[in-house]
Amino acid sequence: MSDAIGKLEDVPGVGPATAQKLRAAGYNTVESVAVASSRELADATGLSTEKAAEISTAAREKLQIRFLTAEELLRHRRVVTRLSTGSKALDGLLGGGVESQAILELIGEYGTGKTQVCHALCATVQLPREEGGLGGGALYVDSEGTFRPERVAQIAEAKGLDADVVLRNVIVARAFNSDHQILIAEKLSDLIPEKNIRLVVVDSVISHFRAEYLGRELLAERQQRLNSHVHRLLRTAEIHNIPVVVTNQVIASPEVFFGPTTRPAGGHIIAHTSTNRVFLRKGRKELRIARMIDSPYLAEAECVFAITERGIEDAKEA
Ligand SMILES: Nc1ncnc2c1ncn2[C@@H]1O[C@H](COP(=O)(O)OP(=O)(O)OP(=O)(O)O)[C@@H](O)[C@H]1O
Ligand SMILES: [Mg+2]
Repeated sequence: MSDAIGKLEDVPGVGPATAQKLRAAGYNTVESVAVASSRELADATGLSTEKAAEISTAAREKLQIRFLTAEELLRHRRVVTRLSTGSKALDGLLGGGVESQAILELIGEYGTGKTQVCHALCATVQLPREEGGLGGGALYVDSEGTFRPERVAQIAEAKGLDADVVLRNVIVARAFNSDHQILIAEKLSDLIPEKNIRLVVVDSVISHFRAEYLGRELLAERQQRLNSHVHRLLRTAEIHNIPVVVTNQVIASPEVFFGPTTRPAGGHIIAHTSTNRVFLRKGRKELRIARMIDSPYLAEAECVFAITERGIEDAKEA
């Protein structure tokens, strides 16, 4: 869907002068204009609000953001691509791999393998489609400082890929606080087509928000900003037909006496925006159990996979 959208000048109402103003303000693509509000556009470019609204509508029309029949929607869904994790069992749980046009949320306690799955995907996304990849690079938004190029190289080599080439195609953006993280997400629309990015990872999506907004009186503001952030990520996944994978922490639920004693952080905002939510927990040694907890069309099910030197793999038979 991201192909053949054209350049800024192809948007009705955008002449050379307006295009120049937009580019100067950092809006380099039709996508970036379409996902901005007319107020954002007007503020950033100095264009009148009326003009900004006109351009914004025209850009959205070019991206075909409109009402669709279910049949048209099915046709758009048919271009959904799937990215392999490296484990057939985990791919199966996900309905054949991590799907594009969607957010996959990996939830779990420390050491359950959220970051490891993200690293593995940075390598597998670079495989050709016949081998479960998407033939493109990855963009890794690292909010916890846990991205390790050595680990991606190790996994790439195990897949028979050239580690140097693989590392060149992983762009890492360290997010230092939630504002910074939001800003990075806003820049994605330009980078994705330019660098042939086929996967976006945000590890973790929520830790900065949790650390910065302490206390009940700040909760509403936090949720509002988080909401706009994750919706932007979802729009990015849809517009560019790529998967977005986010990680999330669990928090204790002291009020629960029966059933699980932890729940995902972020409340209903993250829950409603993630397309598929997978809960990870530890098994014996390198084994991990993944549970699909919330999906619009996949059954609640569990599978076992392994974190090994080679990345994410199926568990060996006992
Ligand atoms: N090179 C490797 N080979 C095999 N297993 C590894 C390797 N690197 C890490 N692991 C395994 O992955 C685990 C760490 O998982 P990971 O960092 O993905 O956890 P996480 O869910 O992201 O935790 P956190 O919430 O702290 O970020 C380690 O405990 C180890 O078992
Ligand atoms: Mg981690």
